[in-house]
Amino acid sequence: MNVLILGSGGREHTFGWKLAQSRRLTQLFFAPGNAGTQSLGHNIDIKPEDFAAVKQAVLSFKINMVVVGPEAPLVMGIVDYFAQDPELKDVKIIGPSAHGAQLEGSKEFAKKFMIDNQIPTAKYLSVTSQNLNEGLDFLKQLKAPYVLKADGLAAGKGVLILDQLAEAQTELGLMLDGKFGQAGHKVVIEEYLHGVELSVFVLTDGISYVILPEAKDYKRIGIGDTGLNTGGMGAVSPVPFANADFMKKVEEQVVKPTIDGLKNAKIDYKGFVFIGLMNVDGQPFVIEYNVRMGDPETEVVIPRLETDLLDLFEATAEGQLPQVRMNISSKSACTVMLVSGGYPEAFEKRQVMQIPEMPAESVAFHAGTQLEQSQVLTNGGRVLSITTLHSNLEQAVKQSIELAEKVQYKDKYFRSDIGQDMMRWSAKK
Ligand code: AMP
Ligand code: GLY
Repeated sequence: MNVLILGSGGREHTFGWKLAQSRRLTQLFFAPGNAGTQSLGHNIDIKPEDFAAVKQAVLSFKINMVVVGPEAPLVMGIVDYFAQDPELKDVKIIGPSAHGAQLEGSKEFAKKFMIDNQIPTAKYLSVTSQNLNEGLDFLKQLKAPYVLKADGLAAGKGVLILDQLAEAQTELGLMLDGKFGQAGHKVVIEEYLHGVELSVFVLTDGISYVILPEAKDYKRIGIGDTGLNTGGMGAVSPVPFANADFMKKVEEQVVKPTIDGLKNAKIDYKGFVFIGLMNVDGQPFVIEYNVRMGDPETEVVIPRLETDLLDLFEATAEGQLPQVRMNISSKSACTVMLVSGGYPEAFEKRQVMQIPEMPAESVAFHAGTQLEQSQVLTNGGRVLSITTLHSNLEQAVKQSIELAEKVQYKDKYFRSDIGQDMMRWSAKK
């Protein structure tokens, strides 16, 4: 089978690394890919949002399956585009329809979906310039801090958490006035949830589902979860507080009603559901849905998967998920993200990288990298994610950090405290 993976991050390199282990894989293609994916297959220089170019690649390279990494092409309707094209309709594609992708593409759609399906989530009000006063009143009824979310996709930047009421009221006005462009012309105001976050990943064929390993992501740039938000600076899996009791609540109160809700609304959904959860005193509350895998969570979730990923994707596309036997490693995975100095603000690209040989338990997944005259150059904010799988979380963390120290490029930065809070949590129990 020939597979095309859309995207260029660590998530896509990880999918490719795992698919390359399948005996049933013939050739792998990436669009556009990065320096790491080039060692697994062929990079095609097209954008995932350019559906006509994707179609051309699918036909030229006789692609049997397309795996959509990022959310943008899903929200733009790539799955519907395939379904409606006579030449593409038989190509398997992993990802939801545009309707399903609204779970990520519109915060209001997601909140309404949760309320309709009795899925626990924070209280909210959806506001436009038409009901601004209602929004200002709703803020007054809430306790600090105040959560404001731009309704549409805002490249991970559309959420504000503010300590002062006056500030929240001002920001609400600014968002509606276009601070985040079109994405913020509608704003969801939410009650703040106090707890610890975790990410739960579900793969669904539209009828049934499998729950993949959960993960914890480290979103802030600085040690001790300080500073600006990033795309993710590292991750661990499993998450020690996600014990069987908690995960049972997640499945009963969140996963089942989500999949049933999609089915009942007749939403075509064959792909990942990434559920951002807050554990509030042992009760799960949904913070957000994403309609794709997380990055860098993929870099710890997929290495723990012992099942053939091509089998899993094929069963997803064919509505046959119950036929697949899921095997998950009980080992711990830790990934440490190396970024360009300055990220998530301005940073330089095109720095020459030296990446050490990886020992058997570790893999270097490329993110923003490119290959030029057999040299690996930095090509983005997040550049390389080093994952280690080990029977012991402490060792996994230690080895990933040691390897991160050995990588060389100008202005390298990584967080050296990935997983530390989880080790402290385990030690307390
Ligand atoms: P989102 O883009 O919806 O994931 O929000 C970004 C981040 O803001 C989340 O990962 C949480 O850390 C935080 N956040 C969002 N909503 C809430 C909430 N209702 N209560 C507390 N924290 C939140
Ligand atoms: N790491 C968070 C995300 O992929 O959205």
